[in-house]
Amino acid sequence: MKARIRLAAGIAILGAASLFAGGQADAFHSGSVANCAGCHTMHNSLEGQKMTWNNLPVGTANAFLLKGQDASSTCLTCHHSTSASGYRVSSPYVDGSGPVQRGPGGDFGWLTKTYEYTAGGGAIRYSRGERHGHNIVALDFGYSADSILELGPGGNYDATKLSCVSCHDPHGKYRIQSDGTIESGAPEQGKTYPYTKGSGSYNNSEAPSATAAVGVYRLLGGVGYAPKSYPEFPFQSDPPAAVAPSTYNRTEAVTQTRVAYGSGMSEWCANCHNAMHSDATGTGLFRHPAGNDAVLGDAIAANYNMYKKSGDLTGNASTSYWSLIPFETGHGNDAAGRTAMQTLARMDNTQLGGPDSGSNVMCLTCHRAHASGWDSMLRWNGVTDYITYSGSYFGSNYAQGRTEAETTAAYYGRPASQFATYQRSLCNKCHIKD
Ligand code: HEC
Ligand code: HEC
Ligand code: HEC
Ligand code: HEC
Ligand code: HEC
Ligand code: HEC
Repeated sequence: MKARIRLAAGIAILGAASLFAGGQADAFHSGSVANCAGCHTMHNSLEGQKMTWNNLPVGTANAFLLKGQDASSTCLTCHHSTSASGYRVSSPYVDGSGPVQRGPGGDFGWLTKTYEYTAGGGAIRYSRGERHGHNIVALDFGYSADSILELGPGGNYDATKLSCVSCHDPHGKYRIQSDGTIESGAPEQGKTYPYTKGSGSYNNSEAPSATAAVGVYRLLGGVGYAPKSYPEFPFQSDPPAAVAPSTYNRTEAVTQTRVAYGSGMSEWCANCHNAMHSDATGTGLFRHPAGNDAVLGDAIAANYNMYKKSGDLTGNASTSYWSLIPFETGHGNDAAGRTAMQTLARMDNTQLGGPDSGSNVMCLTCHRAHASGWDSMLRWNGVTDYITYSGSYFGSNYAQGRTEAETTAAYYGRPASQFATYQRSLCNKCHIKD
């Protein structure tokens, strides 16, 4: 089934697209460059009406002829919604219950909420909104740059330039070829390369062939990529090998959403955070391991597989997977790797196999990519002693001032009963210090 996105009517687009909420590969970008008029307007005029989503009059347009005030606002016109569905990555924060999107990347709405709580000794503490993720600048939607982190830690990326297109190539030029290599379609006289036939992000994506490539994971930028408006830091590493289930924005109250992370995620994050990466050149390397070579080894893989919760080591390797603590399996974008990842990417709990000794830790083992309910964009609360206290999330401010419902949202709908009555940090899944 194909969804045709119509040009002028932004609102009609939203209605139509929401019918294809499962992340259908063929609805708009289709793994490559979408209809230009979904994001650009040539004159800001069609049938005499403005085409921008902000209030510019006919005949005047935004920078790069975009339909939004800035790049991220252009994206959020389709990717922000008050209701949860498909490809949405942002929603307004609702006090008492939190934002509603549950995609693997996380809902940018967490950035707009600061929590206040009283610490043990009576001191007032904060869990500030801007600590909850990547502060993209999207002025039409009320998102602005981080006020404390002026540069991306471990690199020099200017936080005021951070937008969706810092990470995602709006034109989706990077593509996976049939041998698993990534090609960018960069112009060069005499060159030929396969066209892109669709998204490569999903467990139902077609395999690339000699003539027809598929898009890279999530249209991320690859080697040499930088937005035209901020060319200073061209990427050194290609997008990761990963595959998502075709339904991925959903509660995990009952079954988990397993993205099959194969390899290269940490190397990709290091495009901007080079010195946070354990392979970074330089001294020391006193950093938590993360990367293709940061393998778990026998002992830590065994820990992951036996750990069910604080005080319960009765788990086993066939059901130990937790989407709150994902790992990379080592697969690449070659045919065998893609087949293996497409098998693992499920949302029905049929693929909960744990790591083996060759699986590796990566940045997204502990962090989300967009935003999360917790400080430092972590997947779980890394600040207080307990994740649950006396069987609930909302104990003595252990949830840093969040309500039970807000904490449940931060754990993607998981009830507190999935954890121990007094659950400690999820670092224990690999290290068992509790
Ligand atoms: C998903 C949204 C989106 C779509 C679809 C899109 N663009 Fe763009 N385009 C952008 C954004 C965002 C920028 C600004 C990038 C920046 O900030 O540097 C841009 C910039 C440009 C630029 C100027 C900078 C450059 O990279 O050369 C050109 C030319 C351009 N787009 C052409 C096109 C054409 C032609 C199409 C259709 C074949 C298209 N775009 C489709 C979002 C889009
Ligand atoms: C006109 C509406 C519209 C606009 C504008 C838009 N998107 Fe999308 N986006 C969609 C739809 C619909 C999907 C799901 C279908 C698809 O992937 O083609 C999607 C999917 C995506 C995906 C997942 C694709 C995959 O294959 O894994 C990414 C990443 C994405 N969008 C990023 C962006 C970015 C970045 C911008 C701004 C530069 C943007 N989008 C602008 C409608 C839009
Ligand atoms: C710092 C880099 C970065 C920025 C900034 C960023 N993304 Fe993403 N995005 C990612 C990565 C990495 C993933 C894959 C996450 C995963 O699978 O765990 C992703 C996933 C997605 C997806 C798939 C749904 C999901 O939740 O995984 C969409 C759609 C998307 N991004 C759109 C956007 C839009 C729109 C913006 C701006 C409002 C944006 N992204 C900003 C890196 C980024
Ligand atoms: C295009 C550059 C870019 C890429 C790629 C990128 N980041 Fe960032 N990151 C930044 C910038 C700039 C900041 C500081 C501004 C902010 O936090 O909003 C930042 C901040 C962070 C923070 C601190 C959040 C907080 O507020 O405490 C974490 C954690 C982080 N990034 C992790 C990641 C991970 C994990 C990836 C890969 C999935 C990644 N980054 C990819 C640019 C990037
Ligand atoms: C084992 C879990 C774990 C892994 C793996 C991990 N981080 Fe972190 N990260 C954290 C924690 C916890 C913090 C909070 C500060 C601290 O403990 O140093 C943090 C903080 C950060 C910050 C914010 C620093 C600041 O000054 O506020 C950035 C940026 C960051 N991580 C990036 C990355 C990147 C990039 C990777 C992959 C190369 C990565 N992290 C891998 C757990 C992790
Ligand atoms: C997916 C598994 C995994 C998770 C989750 C994880 N780690 Fe690790 N950690 C490792 C691996 C692998 C090593 C390196 C192996 C080794 O030599 O012990 C390591 C090493 C360490 C070390 C250094 C040990 C040494 O001997 O030098 C510390 C400290 C550490 N981790 C703390 C943490 C903390 C704190 C968290 C949570 C924020 C965390 N880890 C989460 C896998 C993990």
